[in-house]
Amino acid sequence: MAQPDWQQLSTDVISLLKEGRRQVLAKMHQTLTVDEKTSRKDLVTNVDKGNEQFLIGGIRALDPDAQVLGEEGFGDTVTSLAGRVWIVDPIDGTMNFVKQRDHFAMMIGIYQDGVGQLGFIYDVMNDVVYAGGPAVGGVWANDRQLSAPANLALADGLMGMSAPLALHDVAHTQAIVEASSGMRVYGSAGIEIIHVLLGKTLGYISQLKPWDIAAGQILLNTLGVRVSTIDGQPLDMLSFNLVLVATEQAQRDILRIEEDDVSL
Ligand code: IPD
Ligand code: CA
Ligand code: CA
Repeated sequence: MAQPDWQQLSTDVISLLKEGRRQVLAKMHQTLTVDEKTSRKDLVTNVDKGNEQFLIGGIRALDPDAQVLGEEGFGDTVTSLAGRVWIVDPIDGTMNFVKQRDHFAMMIGIYQDGVGQLGFIYDVMNDVVYAGGPAVGGVWANDRQLSAPANLALADGLMGMSAPLALHDVAHTQAIVEASSGMRVYGSAGIEIIHVLLGKTLGYISQLKPWDIAAGQILLNTLGVRVSTIDGQPLDMLSFNLVLVATEQAQRDILRIEEDDVSL
């Protein structure tokens, strides 16, 4: 596929995600096989693996020549963003999935020569697909087109955060939380990003792998929300990043807090 029909591709990906959801819901109340990856707080289940295999199978059928980077290793070994690259997180928020059977997402980002074109975050339990990107000129929550969230200053809104960063005060996260209206912790990068898209929080800080932020970066940028490293640099989409998502004003406020301490 040289240049895809992006609108059609978006429709096809949403159908694929909906079928993935049906399978996940069917397996969700059976006994899960849960394994630890790097620690007892970093889990993977049979459902994560099965859904990644299912989604990648569907992606191969839609876009046979593309590269696919999947969290659980069923895709390609991707070392370059040349051409079209699909980045897949089959279940984001696996700890929530295991402990709550709620508050988790499926995520897919599609990049063309390193530029994000289409992103999808599926809030599985609420059955809402957040989809869009520059290739289709907007972001939709199912059939409702989203408008850009208000460009709030840090003092005027809630800040999403991964708990360990704030607990250990990594990169002045405690000062950032103090300067905001308060901290919220949802336990899934995808669910956190949905809150920012909807203007319910004004930002999010977390240490993230490519599949945690690939879809979100596309959706957020399309609505004018900034995505960078904690020191304001572009993300490396093949690596681990300490990611700062923020409205334009809040990003400026947070970068000022970072710059005020040269020990970062
Ligand atoms: C994790 C979640 C979590 C974030 C971690 C991610 P996973 O993804 O998004 O909220 O703090 O950094 O790894 O492992 O559940 O797909
Ligand atoms: Ca994830
Ligand atoms: Ca995952």
